[in-house]
Amino acid sequence: MKQPVKQHLIDPEICIRCHSCEAACPIGAIEHNGNNVVVKAEACNFCMACIPVCPTGSIDEWRVVETPYTLDEQYGWTELPAQATLASGADEDAPEALDSAVAELLADAHKGAGGKAKAPASASKPSVNLYPMGKPAQATVQGNYRLTGENADADVRLIILDFGAQRFPVLEGQSLGIIPPGLDKDGKPHLPRLYSVSSPRDGERPNYNNVSLTVKRAPGGVCSNYVCDLKKGDKVDVTGPFGATFLLPEDPKARLLMICTGTGSAPFRAFTMRRQREGLRGGGDMTLFFGARTPDSLPYFGPLNKVPSRILRKHMVFSRIPGVPKEYVQDRMLVEAEDVAEMLADPNLHIYICGLRGMEEGVEKAFVNIAESTGTPWATLRDAMRGEGRYHVETY
Ligand code: A2P
Repeated sequence: MKQPVKQHLIDPEICIRCHSCEAACPIGAIEHNGNNVVVKAEACNFCMACIPVCPTGSIDEWRVVETPYTLDEQYGWTELPAQATLASGADEDAPEALDSAVAELLADAHKGAGGKAKAPASASKPSVNLYPMGKPAQATVQGNYRLTGENADADVRLIILDFGAQRFPVLEGQSLGIIPPGLDKDGKPHLPRLYSVSSPRDGERPNYNNVSLTVKRAPGGVCSNYVCDLKKGDKVDVTGPFGATFLLPEDPKARLLMICTGTGSAPFRAFTMRRQREGLRGGGDMTLFFGARTPDSLPYFGPLNKVPSRILRKHMVFSRIPGVPKEYVQDRMLVEAEDVAEMLADPNLHIYICGLRGMEEGVEKAFVNIAESTGTPWATLRDAMRGEGRYHVETY
């Protein structure tokens, strides 16, 4: 009988094909075709360099196998196979049947970056990867509008893409990929860059087959400059849709606590628009902590201020207003600790965090502090919420 081994895999349903893992892998053990991103079993040395860079947690998948899945098998997957029962009779649901070496492997296989992301139980079923890299959809630019003030140092834009007769269904919280034209420094076609969709499922304009993106121009950024310079009528190659966990609960009682910086606001704009268009039916309120440098550089500052506070409680915080102390989202969470603690105690609460990776640590510390007053340690609460599909993080 073959000795079982641990195999590192990527969940194709959750992966948003941002290729960060591929760039982070120091030994070239991760590769892709037009469909999936996969791990070479014989090359992966479990160095874990790819784990923290993945914005979705789809990289954090492990199986104990007697024969590793081949690249061809992985390329063909639309979903990850369950842990198979091993010839020894062992599977993860029957730990008593395991010999200790396999038990250790399986326990180890579940030690990852912090648990598997799960969609809200009531979320709609998303479509994923309908247009892979090898067969992108072609969208037409319908609009390109600057969202930040003329004096703001950041150029953030609302880009509207129309899909015409092509079916491109997206749910709020999903992302799509844009393939910049031309070749990279190695003479290969550029990989798609990922952007969160900032419009609701029925379109930026209701019942139009269009989506919007919120894109910040990055100095020297190949794709962000391409996107920010697009003109009405331009044609764009689009992959996706991607993402199967960072989704809006359909349950109208679900309360949303959304925490973001900068363009991390994109999915929350989609969530808010969806709920506004649907009408508030079940009492699920929404609270937003949004951090930016100045009001001028906060995307959607004007429109957000117009959303009534009975629909959305807004905490917009600024870090670079001259003469005013710097404030981050986590600082404001502590100021609003009583309200946040009340939300944490509610089993209808869903938490979403989106934006700069750097904010995660500060937000985590704020939650630790606030959860103390609820009597449940934050780590326990967070892991339970994640397991119930009520805790979602997408940072980059
Ligand atoms: P800062 O003034 O320190 O850069 P950006 O404009 O770069 O997209 O950032 C959006 C906001 O996030 C800015 O106000 C920025 O503040 C803030 N920010 C930067 N680092 C952190 C962090 N570690 N935690 C929370 N907010 C942060």
